[in-house]
Amino acid sequence: MSIPMEAHERTPETRVPRASPPMNDPAARATQIADATPAPNVAPAPAALFAAGVGEKMRATDLNFFYGKAQALYNISIRIPTNHVTAFIGPSGCGKSTFLRTLNRMCDTVKGTRVEGDVQLDGEDVFGLDVTSVRRRVGMVFQRSNPFPKSIFDNVAYGLRVNGGLSRAEVAERVERSLVRSALWDEVKHKLHESAYGLSGGQQQRLCIARALAVDPEVLLLDEPCSALDPISTSKIEELLLTLADSCTIVIVTHNMQQAARVSDYTGFFLMGKLVEFDKTEQIFQAPSRKETEDYVTGRFG
Ligand SMILES: Nc1ncnc2c1ncn2[C@@H]1O[C@H](COP(=O)(O)OP(=O)(O)OP(=O)(O)O)[C@@H](O)[C@H]1O
Ligand SMILES: [Mg+2]
Repeated sequence: MSIPMEAHERTPETRVPRASPPMNDPAARATQIADATPAPNVAPAPAALFAAGVGEKMRATDLNFFYGKAQALYNISIRIPTNHVTAFIGPSGCGKSTFLRTLNRMCDTVKGTRVEGDVQLDGEDVFGLDVTSVRRRVGMVFQRSNPFPKSIFDNVAYGLRVNGGLSRAEVAERVERSLVRSALWDEVKHKLHESAYGLSGGQQQRLCIARALAVDPEVLLLDEPCSALDPISTSKIEELLLTLADSCTIVIVTHNMQQAARVSDYTGFFLMGKLVEFDKTEQIFQAPSRKETEDYVTGRFG
């Protein structure tokens, strides 16, 4: 598949120069590094970036995002590979969640926001599609698990019932399949009709993944899904992501660098609302082409 080369980001022409911050403040140092280094205009050639046969599931082009007058994203351009895991890393406040939310139009739910640019799902403009169908095709799991005050079964069945068209037996079959896929079935199969609130934090997060999977999304967005979990629950979710990527395109935001390295095929590094670098994960962690990326992944700031 031939995809033309394109810049990943450009410096906004309207940026105001800042005074030099003290170097002993990590956040200030990040700011200084970002300001001192011109934005890259040449991204790795996608032909080299995407292995042969890897398709493009989503694409953002020149995406800018504003909360009122405050700009949170600057000219983000990226292609998300089909049925692979893409990780977004970067310091707090750099726009990872904001960008994730533009991919399934969850950003529409925040008042006073504005999006410029283009987001495509299989070549279709997501802002031109019916929002419900976008969210069905592009599911989302949040940092804090948010089960509904319902039974385990009803949580997973929720989206299926909203969409309608399935018999009770079909719903039950899809609920079971989703719980198996989210590696929770064995732990809950004997108590499907008990409250979801009786589950542990890690189980609740896997339940939310099962709920998202039940409607068979093509893309699953996960915003720091393991940040509140213990190492065992975290590793269960990581294993799950690796398995899910056979049939679903996964995009995960994480602050855990080891997690990005373990689970993702491609990694994007965000800094101050810009996508500084996007490449194969091993490249980002072993030989990043941008100094800011290297400083971040080696723990020099952030
Ligand atoms: N609802 C909102 N209203 C106004 N500004 C917001 C809102 N949500 C985020 N922002 C601002 O947008 C910028 C990007 O925030 P975002 O939450 O996307 O960052 P993040 O990279 O996900 O950070 P973290 O790692 O802390 O989750 C920040 O400056 C933040 O203050
Ligand atoms: Mg966030």
